[in-house]
Amino acid sequence: FPVVDPSVHAAWLPDAALAPLGSRRVAVVVPDGGAPDVVAQTVRDEVAAATAAHGGAVVDPQQAGTADVVLAVRASTGAPAGAPAGSAAADPEAFTLTRALGMVTVTATTSHGLLHGLFHLVRLGEHAFTDPDGTWTHAPTTALRMLDHWDNVAVHPVMGQVERGYSGGSIFYDDGQVRADLTRVAQYSRLLAASGINRVAINNVNVGPRESLLLTDDLDEVARIAAAFRPYGIRTHLSVSWASPVRLGGLTTSDPLDEDVRAWWRAAADRVWATIPDFGGFVVKADSEGQPGPFAYGRSHADGANMLAAAVAPHGGLVHWRAFVYDHTQDWRDRKTDRARAAYDHFAPHDGEFADNVIVQIKHGPLDFQVREAVSPAIAALPRTRLAAEFQVTTEYLGHQKHAVYLGRMWSELLRFPYWGEGSATMADVAAGRHPESDGTGGDGTRAGGFAAVSNVGDDVFWTGHPFAQANLYAWGRLTWDPTLDPIGILDEWVSLTFPGADPRVRETVHAVLDESWETYERYTAPLGVCFMVKPHTHYGPDPDGYEYSPWGTYHFADRDGVGVDRTRATGTGFTGQYPAPWRDVYESLETVPDELLLFFHHVPYGHVLRSGKTVIQHVYDTHFEGLERVHAAVEAWQAAADAFPPDVAERVTERFAEQVRSATDWRDVVNTYFFRKSGIPDAAGRTIY
Ligand code: GCU
Repeated sequence: FPVVDPSVHAAWLPDAALAPLGSRRVAVVVPDGGAPDVVAQTVRDEVAAATAAHGGAVVDPQQAGTADVVLAVRASTGAPAGAPAGSAAADPEAFTLTRALGMVTVTATTSHGLLHGLFHLVRLGEHAFTDPDGTWTHAPTTALRMLDHWDNVAVHPVMGQVERGYSGGSIFYDDGQVRADLTRVAQYSRLLAASGINRVAINNVNVGPRESLLLTDDLDEVARIAAAFRPYGIRTHLSVSWASPVRLGGLTTSDPLDEDVRAWWRAAADRVWATIPDFGGFVVKADSEGQPGPFAYGRSHADGANMLAAAVAPHGGLVHWRAFVYDHTQDWRDRKTDRARAAYDHFAPHDGEFADNVIVQIKHGPLDFQVREAVSPAIAALPRTRLAAEFQVTTEYLGHQKHAVYLGRMWSELLRFPYWGEGSATMADVAAGRHPESDGTGGDGTRAGGFAAVSNVGDDVFWTGHPFAQANLYAWGRLTWDPTLDPIGILDEWVSLTFPGADPRVRETVHAVLDESWETYERYTAPLGVCFMVKPHTHYGPDPDGYEYSPWGTYHFADRDGVGVDRTRATGTGFTGQYPAPWRDVYESLETVPDELLLFFHHVPYGHVLRSGKTVIQHVYDTHFEGLERVHAAVEAWQAAADAFPPDVAERVTERFAEQVRSATDWRDVVNTYFFRKSGIPDAAGRTIY
């Protein structure tokens, strides 16, 4: 213990990352609370393993005064008495670090807080012991920091085992069942806890027939997974099929107002919590992309969610009800239907109707995890509903973990988006339960819905396919704990932990390759907020018209004269009207819309001049040439320092770069050629366009 499979990459917890702590004399002081405390045991085990490996010692709690480091659970952490609910000191996951007179003390009121404090020390490394004296309290921004796995138990004929997964098979399932050996799940839970994640949904939101059984026949197996997560303070959730009463219970209906249906769900929930007492709750994708839902019975999303909420409420369970509801069978000839409007149109009218234990989970953008899209207006539109902001760590639209793309900066920008204007509440504030127009009950964060994101992990030896994609998972965890953290600082932390004591060129190269990789990817793919220029279904590689005449929505309307989607109130779909002021007007007007979202909100001629002074068409050409040049520059930086990285990492990254160059070249040429042929306008710089 800790459970570690040495054949799998250690990610941000290699043995050496524990050396600064492990070389000290450490006491763990946790009062016996009567019941066994597996998380406290984890802290003791981590300390025992680290000190044994690195020459330190475990100090008896009685002798704690003689230790270099004391990790203690105390009724009070010394923070001012009567700390208000929602304040850092009152948070059960909070911890306080004090450095004074040569001793480092970490105190928390719970073992969960203590575990976070332990990993904080690991993150600080030697600095934990050498920085100036002081006292710091750290608490998460929200208690709901979730990762969603889109893993199937059985391998899906089209999607494979992990839907939108680019890192091999599932770490949970093999051959149509839960893996007998869950070592990797235990190791994963340790990595997640060290990043800040505390809840995991373990199966795909598209719940197939085999996966439905996790809720019933396979509960003991789910309990084994929950047991692998529990020592690190992580709670397990399941995605469930809305049609379960029919599929599993033999009922003839899933109508949420039907008494038999309600009784079926109550009994199902009772069995789940009887088997897994700290189970988290259910995630539901209903009436979305062909999944069954309450619409079939003439019921609303609130009716559906509240029925499930009633079944799980006696157990303290949650329902994460996804707002990814739109018409995926639309006709491209119909210019009025705008997929971007869908979440708001479906959910805003039901604000205030959802039960207290329902969390409506809304994607950060109105479409679908594009490299650049506007923020979702729905997130601002339900002040009386608990909302989770949903993100995607797996890079479905951002290069499938074949391209080196760091998402920390993109997420940070989104989480900091001030929905009511500069200085106002942000996306992160709303998710943390601090909506400025809420009825006041959420001001203290108790009505938070938190954060959820789709994991990028599979059974790949590096966990994430591209070794640098580990940084995305790490950054997601850190940003859920504190959305105000500097994403480049997080990347720096990731380097220090993952490559401890490495040649300084390692850090420089990671920054050179990743710091601006989001913009690089944006440059060589879809321009100015145009979305979905990807190949249909796989969502990898360029296909400008791939979705243009499809039932899934239309995204750019390019013709010989111009490009973009008119989403204005004046002449378009009216989508801009879903935003609060000032954004409804900022986006409405060509004078004020930010360049990078121009084509998301407006249809303009190719000669339209951007605020940068360039025409739209020249911007398309320039960014596509420049995007590929930036990839070449990243490759050069990489090649100059590849020998400073561990050989297995170097080999994998080198292989991924070859594909990124090929694919980015394809993107440049296809997109430039597409717009050249549409517009007939040559590149002012006379570069080759095919
Ligand atoms: C995207 C993705 C699907 C996924 C869906 C969802 O559309 O391509 O694979 O099921 O999002 O979030 O439910």
